[in-house]
Amino acid sequence: MTTSRWIRAQISRRAALRGLWTSAATLLTTGCGFPPETGEAFAPWDFPGDEERPELLAVGAAILAANPHNTQPWRFRVTPEEIELRADLERSLRTMDSLHREMWIGLGCAIENLVIAARANGRAVEVKLMPEADEAALVARVRLTPAEPAAEELYDAIPARHTNRGEYTSAPIERLEELLRAELQGQGTLSLTYHAAGEPRRLLESGIVDATKALLADEEMSEDSHHWYRHTEEEIDRHRDGTTLDATGNGATLRRFGKLTARPSAERAGEYWLANVERSQLGGAAFVILASADRNDRRQQLEIGRAYQRMHLRATSLGLAMQPHNQMAERQDREETLGSEPEFASRLASLVGPEGFGAQMIFRVGVPWDDAFSSPRRGLEEVIE
Ligand SMILES: Cc1cc2nc3c(=O)[nH]c(=O)nc-3n(C[C@H](O)[C@H](O)[C@H](O)COP(=O)(O)O)c2cc1C
Repeated sequence: MTTSRWIRAQISRRAALRGLWTSAATLLTTGCGFPPETGEAFAPWDFPGDEERPELLAVGAAILAANPHNTQPWRFRVTPEEIELRADLERSLRTMDSLHREMWIGLGCAIENLVIAARANGRAVEVKLMPEADEAALVARVRLTPAEPAAEELYDAIPARHTNRGEYTSAPIERLEELLRAELQGQGTLSLTYHAAGEPRRLLESGIVDATKALLADEEMSEDSHHWYRHTEEEIDRHRDGTTLDATGNGATLRRFGKLTARPSAERAGEYWLANVERSQLGGAAFVILASADRNDRRQQLEIGRAYQRMHLRATSLGLAMQPHNQMAERQDREETLGSEPEFASRLASLVGPEGFGAQMIFRVGVPWDDAFSSPRRGLEEVIE
């Protein structure tokens, strides 16, 4: 049996149980607060819609990629023959991503969606990462040439993929490590460390909780994170980016009451976040660390993003959920920038292999109890120059 079929067989019974629970929750909350996923901010998820131009389908897929705090730090120049992707440094998470490491990983995620969609829609692609030494913000130049549409297995998962911050079951999933590892595509500068159980997993879980606390105690980081929180329907419509209550993974009742209350302060929002991490976000079949040989190398950061995106699409296609938990890596960057005690750098180093590789992306994966909602997106008219 193939790895995918093997994993699908393990999770089908759990998915049936989940369906029952979702229907009950929907019945209980219909008509309360503003509903999730409504308005123009969610229109880009209607993908591919009726668009037929391959280059616009490619960009339409790119903007649906995972990206840090939903900052969507991208700008595109598009012709039928070529797409240029630039980092939008105005959309920085500032002290939350002081080395712009996460920004580059998110841009890598966008490149992967772009490439999959271009190929699926009849274009061969040639990707050059960081093509101009004197233009650091030019992240990729992608040449498009006509070709037969390729059977891209992950294409259909592009509009179905969402970060799921709800509860997952913790039952192990056989051969999941193998499935994820395949998405590194044998690149020697990248590594994957899989912690399903035992002391390393416990250390990673406590590291995530401690890093969340450290981050919240750091006023600048806490404010820079909260800056991207969109509380009301009007804020979501206006910005079409950032994090929302519906994307927190909280149950319907909590989300409904949250929407009826005033916008929380950064401090209050931080308390909810920490409670949510401790209560609901440490379950899952495994925690995974993606690392690279040189943590500050921009190309490697882009390749980590591309690999993460493929893994998330693959997991989505099998009914599995994923959520990055990057607080330890964010604190590591903050320590490096401030020149302070490398507490989280050394805690992470003991959990990553092989020796000398640096952690880029930490996430959990498993069978979710509930589906995740989509997060807002700016449309093509806002991101194409
Ligand atoms: C580099 C990177 C770091 C991220 N870190 C976290 C994280 O620490 N916690 C979290 O819940 N989500 C994290 N995410 C997920 C993003 O918040 C998410 O992709 C974004 O809000 C868009 O939502 P979507 O993935 O559902 O489309 C991260 C994503 C990327 C690409």
